[in-house]
Amino acid sequence: MFKKPHGNESAYIKCREKTKKELLKEIEELRQIINDLEKLQNKSQNVNEETERYLDPPEESVTTCTLEPTNINEQLLQEITGSQKAEDSLREIIRSYEEIGSVIPDAFIVADDEGRIVFWNKAAEKMYGYSSDEALGNYLLTVLIPTEYHTAVKEGFAKFKKTGKCPIVGKTLNFISEKKGKFKFPVEMSLSSIKVNERWYSMAIIRDISERKSAEERIIKSNQKLEEMVDNTVNALVKIIKLKDSYTSGHQKRVSKLTVAIARELDLSKREVKLIKIAALVHDIGKTSIPAEILSKPDKLAEIEFSLIRTHSQTGYDILKDINFPWAVEEIILQHHERIDGSGYPRGLTGDEILIEAKIIAVADVVEAMSSHRPYRPARGIKKALKEISQNKGILYDPKVVDTCLKLFRKKKFKF
Ligand SMILES: [Fe+2]
Repeated sequence: MFKKPHGNESAYIKCREKTKKELLKEIEELRQIINDLEKLQNKSQNVNEETERYLDPPEESVTTCTLEPTNINEQLLQEITGSQKAEDSLREIIRSYEEIGSVIPDAFIVADDEGRIVFWNKAAEKMYGYSSDEALGNYLLTVLIPTEYHTAVKEGFAKFKKTGKCPIVGKTLNFISEKKGKFKFPVEMSLSSIKVNERWYSMAIIRDISERKSAEERIIKSNQKLEEMVDNTVNALVKIIKLKDSYTSGHQKRVSKLTVAIARELDLSKREVKLIKIAALVHDIGKTSIPAEILSKPDKLAEIEFSLIRTHSQTGYDILKDINFPWAVEEIILQHHERIDGSGYPRGLTGDEILIEAKIIAVADVVEAMSSHRPYRPARGIKKALKEISQNKGILYDPKVVDTCLKLFRKKKFKF
């Protein structure tokens, strides 16, 4: 079994060999003593006393045996043989560790079931700033674990000692480690366990991920900046649309509210919800190119005027494509008047050819438009709007989107 080594592993093994040689010598001495004692026919008490004297000081697993005067030699020999086998396997394993540890670029650390370090490779020396001599025999807690994690690690080792298992064994996890000088740094650790000579040992491969983390932070910051720019651009577009046509601006805001609610109800990802919100907020931007007189004309529109209005999704696409949004906002806007039976415009797309975001905006657009007042007509009301999408569910509108929209109004009391 491992004891706290004083120096490197080979010195430790040599120290153990010397102990066993001494023990074998002692066995011979004991044999002679027993013979003498038998001759004197004074077996029991005196032999026990002598045995204890000769086995002092206690030495690891040998100390656990209870010696009977009649078979002391056999028991001791069995203990020594068992210990020899265990130590041979242990030595073999440590030799393997040295081979593995010398070729891998990561810190390779082995600790016993008390958390004492019994193996520490060159990469660990470099990473943590402690030499093997400094690290071996010390506790992981004092060498590489920051104080705030000590309680959790102690609890983990208490479980590990009994079973070789604890919540982090067999897993790869990221945490903050500590090197010489109390300098903290992020690491990725893979932990596994091995049983040697009836004791559990933990083996950790630890990688310094400081560079990776700072690269990730740079990406996060740059994404945040990009999102900020997108939001600012969208806000600027919303303002421009409002200046040109306040009805369209209000319509887009309400459509955006309903599309976000439908998207969330459909379990779309956070990113998809954000995308659909942006697209809905500017989905009618193409209408800025249509004369206000046509948009707010109280009379029935002429066919040519309808044709002009129908160009707004293509115009919206043309305006936005040059902004180079990080997402396909312009494609959603291009498709928001498509219908699943192919009767929509501008391309007459059908079914799965239409993006889910565009299908959601299509339903929200119709419901909002019909339920709201317009300069050229009074509001038709939410009931008629919901009837329209119900009647055309699976024909013009995506059935799932329609069902979700109806659920929001009828069960979840959605209001614009
Ligand atoms: Fe539209």
